[in-house]
Formats: sequence, structure tokens, C-alpha cells
Amino acid sequence: MLQRPRRNRKSEVIRQMVQETHVSAANLIFPLFIIDGVNQKSEVASMPGIFRYSIDNLLREIESCMKLGLNSFDLFPNIAEELKDKFATESYRDESLYLRAIREVKKNFPEACVITDVAMDPYSSDGHDGIVENGVILNDETLDVLGKMALAHAQSGADIIAPSDMMDGRVGYIRNVLDDNGFTNVSIMSYSAKYASAFYGPFRDALNSAPKFGDKKTYQMNPANQREALIEAELDEVEGADFLMVKPALSYLDVIKLIKDNTELPVAAYNVSGEYAMIKAAVQRGWLNEQRAITEVLTSIRRAGATAILTYHAKEVLENKWL
Ligand code: PBG
Repeated sequence: MLQRPRRNRKSEVIRQMVQETHVSAANLIFPLFIIDGVNQKSEVASMPGIFRYSIDNLLREIESCMKLGLNSFDLFPNIAEELKDKFATESYRDESLYLRAIREVKKNFPEACVITDVAMDPYSSDGHDGIVENGVILNDETLDVLGKMALAHAQSGADIIAPSDMMDGRVGYIRNVLDDNGFTNVSIMSYSAKYASAFYGPFRDALNSAPKFGDKKTYQMNPANQREALIEAELDEVEGADFLMVKPALSYLDVIKLIKDNTELPVAAYNVSGEYAMIKAAVQRGWLNEQRAITEVLTSIRRAGATAILTYHAKEVLENKWL
């Protein structure tokens, strides 16, 4: 045998020397849930260790993350039921919880990267990502709402706008609205290939944002499709996206790789709530080694081609020095 691949695995030093993929704090984006009120911190039942924070506690949480070198945050609001309506008007009301949160975070931590979620579902009385008429999710009418929401986020100080709605044409529409209003420097991280996944369940618990009827299959992608992700990614790139995102991550590593091989843009992946919940549930039962499972997951997502990873594990891996 001239070739013995095991020689490159014979010691820790050599294993590290030949390691192809690394995860660092700079690659991580931490999703954070916000609720109204003062001094609130409520744990999401299906996501042990993940909380909904009122703005004051959100600022404390962000400060402790930044001390660990975690500087990018994706914010999601839990909106009271009585503030929801068919057109998600709460999403661009100047004094809304979400816009106040963006302003407070940027005021206190100007160097943090604030990513904002553009989609109607947390504010929609129908629990859908678009305007509903006779049970149909309207596309072009929804773009108008998304444009208003994105503009409000930019005016409040968002660094990156992340449309997660999957309406056709929304990246170009939002880019135009931002540019026409002088926000040429605000980036767009598009949820390009977002699948109609079972793994969003815990997130919808966190925000109380589940659809009130039906499912999201007329706008989110069929998990059986790979080539279709290229259509979505190419459109978003042409329409002006700065990042292309794949979501969820673990069941879609092939899609991350495919998009990576077909673009020069940075690719992001969202390691979603259900993926987090699976690991935590198994760890609680003593069925998985937490550190090894989490670092393997994050490394695999990087290996598949993701530059940035949105993950609920972001803070704990740094706190525990697992990277
Ligand atoms: C909604 C949105 C969802 C997530 C991010 N933005 C859920 C959905 O589409 O129903 C899921 C994130 C997660 O599960 O962690 N626009």
C-alpha cells in the first residue's frame, strides 16, 4: 500500500493541520425573539435555552453576545394578537415593538450588524407571509406591504434586510424601494431557497405565528426539489441580492452546495428552530453528546458551502468555547 490515508489522521496536530473547514464567531448570526413589555424573558418551550426578550433585556443579551465576539443578530417579533390584521400594518407603524427594537439596538450598539426579517406572518391575522384573499395568497399586492416594511426597517437603522416571505419579485421590488429612498447601502440577504418545512414548528411557537388555515406550500418550496432552488437563486441575484440563503440547513446541504457552485455571492444557511430542538431533546435524554453534535452540525453546514450560518447555537458555542 503506497497510500495510507490514516497517516494524516494519526495525531491531533496533524488532524488539525489538514482540517479543511473551520467555523468562527465571524460566520455566526444569532436569531433573537422579541416581546413587548419591560424586564420580560420567557423561554420557548420547544427551544430550551432560547428566550423571548423585552427590549431592555434584548439589549443586555446583545451586550453579552458581543463580549463573546458574536456581533450579528437577526431579530424576530412576537406580536400581540390584537395588533395583527390582514395587511400587517403593525409591521411599519413607527412606534411598533420591532421598529423600536431596531432603533434601540443600533443606538446602543452601532457596530453590531442588525439583520431584520421582512415577511407578513408575525403581524398577519391570517398567519401567512402574504395578503390572503378567498384563501389565496396574493403575490403582487403583498410586494407593496413588503416594500413598506423594508423601508421602515432601513429608516430604523437595519444593516441587512432579510426577506423570508418567498413572494416572486420581492428582492427587486425591495431593492428599488430602498434605492429610491436613499438606502443604497442597506444590504439584502434573501431567503432564496426556503422550503415548506416541518422544521419551523418551534419558531412558530416562539412567535405564535402559525398559519390560521392551510399551509405555506404555494410559496415555500417543495422539499423534493433541488433544481428549482437554482431558479430562485438566479432570480434573487439578478434582482440585487447581496447574500443567497438556504433554509433549513441540515436536510438541504445538497442545495447549499448547488447554490454555492453556481454563484459568486456569499451563501448563508439557516439552521432552523426544529433542527435546534431535535438536538436539545436528544441531549436532554442523554442520547447525544451536545458539544460534538452541535460542532459537527455547524461544521457540516460550512463544509457544504455556507459562509454565514444563522443558528440558535451561536451564543452557546462561544460561551462554552466549543469552536
Ligand atoms: C417566517 C419565517 C419562518 C422562519 C423564519 N422566518 C417560519 C415560517 O416560514 O413559517 C423559521 C425560522 C426557524 O424555524 O428557526 N417568514
